[in-house]
Amino acid sequence: MDNNGRKIIYSGIQPTGCVTIGNYIGAINNWKKLQENNDCIYGIANMHALTVRQDPAEFRARVKSFFAQYLACGLDPDKSIIYIQSDVAEHAELTWVLNCFTYLGELSRMTQFKDKSAKNEDNINSGLLTYPILMAADILLYKTDLVPVGIDQKQHLELTRDIAARFNNIYGDVFTVPEPYIPEQGAKITSLQNPLEKMSKSDPDPNGMVSIIDAPDVIMRKFKRAVTDSGTGIYVSPEKPGITNLLTIYSVFADCPIREAEGRFEGKGYGEFKTAVGEAVVDVLKPVNERYKDLMNNKDYLDKIAAEGADKARYIAKKTMSKVMRKVGFR
Ligand code: TRP
Repeated sequence: MDNNGRKIIYSGIQPTGCVTIGNYIGAINNWKKLQENNDCIYGIANMHALTVRQDPAEFRARVKSFFAQYLACGLDPDKSIIYIQSDVAEHAELTWVLNCFTYLGELSRMTQFKDKSAKNEDNINSGLLTYPILMAADILLYKTDLVPVGIDQKQHLELTRDIAARFNNIYGDVFTVPEPYIPEQGAKITSLQNPLEKMSKSDPDPNGMVSIIDAPDVIMRKFKRAVTDSGTGIYVSPEKPGITNLLTIYSVFADCPIREAEGRFEGKGYGEFKTAVGEAVVDVLKPVNERYKDLMNNKDYLDKIAAEGADKARYIAKKTMSKVMRKVGFR
């Protein structure tokens, strides 16, 4: 830990599909709060995204777009280090070393590996298997204390801790063993078309998810079409997954406790409710959308901020990497 109780916080997002309101609520909005009192490093994990086939031009453009979306949401390059993973070669370097301290059995047990290899039968590449080692390198390069992650990444974090402890056992105190940080507002946002499934950033049905840079009229249309549940009544209940999801979204975007939200819509119809949810989301995302457009029109500025972020990240990563090299006996 750094002085004054400030912690070093690392998190990342894969640039696949688009940034959804689920990512906003589950990740970015929390990252924004954390950057006020901590030393935060936020990466765009494009090396991880290469585990599935990418069209090069589209991939490069999407990474830039994700970077602009981070900034548009209020992640502040004066407060946090915001950078693109592949700009810092130390990620790949440390990954190799950590590969040699990770067992095949550990990797093949990862549920995400099992899920992903079932889904990508025609491309079960080694990267899918070693994905968590790259993630461990991300985290360990920066002496990270806390890693905000969703529940789906917790197993990878456990593995990171095991690798770090194993390495330290052999070579002395090299890595900080990180703790997971599951944010209070970890509310899981589900698809607007299928409320029993997580809102996916690569949902083939665009009506199921809302991108944070969807135009206001598109957002309104998606909410008006959102699937609701049978009966009437607007309250949280396992029998009302659609309504519960919409209430959760409303609660975050209108900044209003969920019980209070239920009260606001008592006796109202589903149509009126869905419009209100859409409006609350648009109120928050309209300025984000405008900032995003400005940033995308200012490529020089974006490139400059990305280069500065990479320089700051590299400075720290290099120090860790040279210590690791010395410890293992490289020149
Ligand atoms: N694997 C994470 C995900 O899919 C993204 C990620 C990459 C990450 N590197 C990280 C998250 C380091 C936390 C810390 O969501």
